[in-house]
Amino acid sequence: MEILNLNRNMAHLALLQRIELASPLLKKLRKVLGRYLFSKFISKYFINVKKISEDYSILMKNEVSSISKFLKQNQNILSIGGGIAGLEIIIMKKFSTSKITFIEKNYISKKIKYGWDDKNLEGYNSLNLMQNLLFDNNISSSRYNIINYNSEIFPKNNFDLIISLYSLDYHYDFNIYLDYLKKSTNNNSVIIFDTIRYEYFKKIFTDVEIIKVNENTIHKSKRIACKFFR
Ligand SMILES: C[S@@+](CC[C@H](N)C(=O)[O-])C[C@H]1O[C@@H](n2cnc3c(N)ncnc32)[C@H](O)[C@@H]1O
Repeated sequence: MEILNLNRNMAHLALLQRIELASPLLKKLRKVLGRYLFSKFISKYFINVKKISEDYSILMKNEVSSISKFLKQNQNILSIGGGIAGLEIIIMKKFSTSKITFIEKNYISKKIKYGWDDKNLEGYNSLNLMQNLLFDNNISSSRYNIINYNSEIFPKNNFDLIISLYSLDYHYDFNIYLDYLKKSTNNNSVIIFDTIRYEYFKKIFTDVEIIKVNENTIHKSKRIACKFFR
């Protein structure tokens, strides 16, 4: 399996984005020392960068498998909250004619609070580092477009597939993107995201398919693939 080689700054972000990559010791330090020290220092300097790179690569490969039946060549994909883009890099390497628009934040909260974020204030990404990782993996810049959620206008588009793992409706309200997604999809588009309120989406979409059940997280979530806005 191909490993995504992360530098320390990237591994830091991967860990913040995927807290399951933290060792039991790191998790203990977070409890004892608090969120500020953890987010700023522990998660950056007390990590084994090589191990995080390997574990992150395996995790992303498995995540690609969980959505593989929705992937094909020549897709126009929107990634909402893709983090450092490990998943998207694997997709773009496998499907060499597909293109991806990323909408992400460009800041790291000082004290990251995981869970539902009513005001959607939390951010844990750097668009520069995301771009560097895409570059390091030889993904041509003609194949992607990176939009800063906080400062740029969302592009007019017609996406075949929208992917938002552990971001949209897992940490913040789906409604933030509702109008944009309605305008940017068609009847064949599929929208994939993780949520703890799967039933609610039967009111929003005609077609809601559960593609993964996650019993291991604190918030027992379901990954759903949705089609046809009502
Ligand atoms: C838990 S991480 C998941 C990252 C990645 N999808 C993954 O599966 O590894 C959530 C991501 O959502 C981003 N985020 C938060 N609010 C956002 C918004 N309104 N639009 C786009 N991304 C957002 C954060 O910066 C963070 O990178």
